[in-house]
Amino acid sequence: MATAESTLLQSWHHNAHSWIEAIRSGSIESRLQVTDQAILLAVLGRQPGRVLDLGCGEGWLLRALIDRGITAVGVDGDATLVEAARAAGAPQVHLATYDELVDATVDVGRDYDLICANFALLHQDIIPLLAAMNALLAPGGALVIQTLHPWVAAAGDYQDGWREETFGGFEGTWQPMPWYFRTLSSWLNALDLAGFRLVGLQEPQHPQRPVPQSLLLVAELQR
Ligand SMILES: C[S@@+](CC[C@H](N)C(=O)[O-])C[C@H]1O[C@@H](n2cnc3c(N)ncnc32)[C@H](O)[C@@H]1O
Repeated sequence: MATAESTLLQSWHHNAHSWIEAIRSGSIESRLQVTDQAILLAVLGRQPGRVLDLGCGEGWLLRALIDRGITAVGVDGDATLVEAARAAGAPQVHLATYDELVDATVDVGRDYDLICANFALLHQDIIPLLAAMNALLAPGGALVIQTLHPWVAAAGDYQDGWREETFGGFEGTWQPMPWYFRTLSSWLNALDLAGFRLVGLQEPQHPQRPVPQSLLLVAELQR
């Protein structure tokens, strides 16, 4: 029987072309107005030389970092997205699932100054993945995660659990994506249990919007 986790990645295999179109046509307003700049500034603010973009998708953040002289390596579990990222100008993009990263069966390099995940931690069991990332960071390295803001995404049900994204407002054909909602304390516990210490928390917001567009967490190695 398919687990929610496998259906999640499967949905990206189905949705890859529509996702590339959505990102590259600039049709997601919150990204253009707020969240793209928020993660880019959070990453650049740490002045990293080497960055790993976890769940890099079609690679927009890799390109933004490469344009600024940073060595940016991507990893994603969907072959179409990996191919699109490479073709658009990011030479180092690995095809690997999060399970493969946890098992270390794919080598994505190490000694990263920073690992980022932009709306890419969508599954339930993120602690083993974050712990595996811990080992890929150089001393003093940081993790930057941008995700849906829990209080906004909760939609009246503030407890960890699987939800479904139907991509209702998007152009193109989409398969619904299961994703795991987690509360703020659940995010912070996951970081702690994976060996990270929270050093920054932002709530990127458009000045004319009543609620934040995302939650952005910056964490460093505990050791
Ligand atoms: C919402 S997209 C974000 C893509 C990119 N970070 C961005 O900002 O445009 C989520 C990404 O996570 C990847 N992903 C989801 N589950 C995965 C898994 N189990 N293993 C590897 N990649 C996964 C998907 O393939 C997809 O590219």
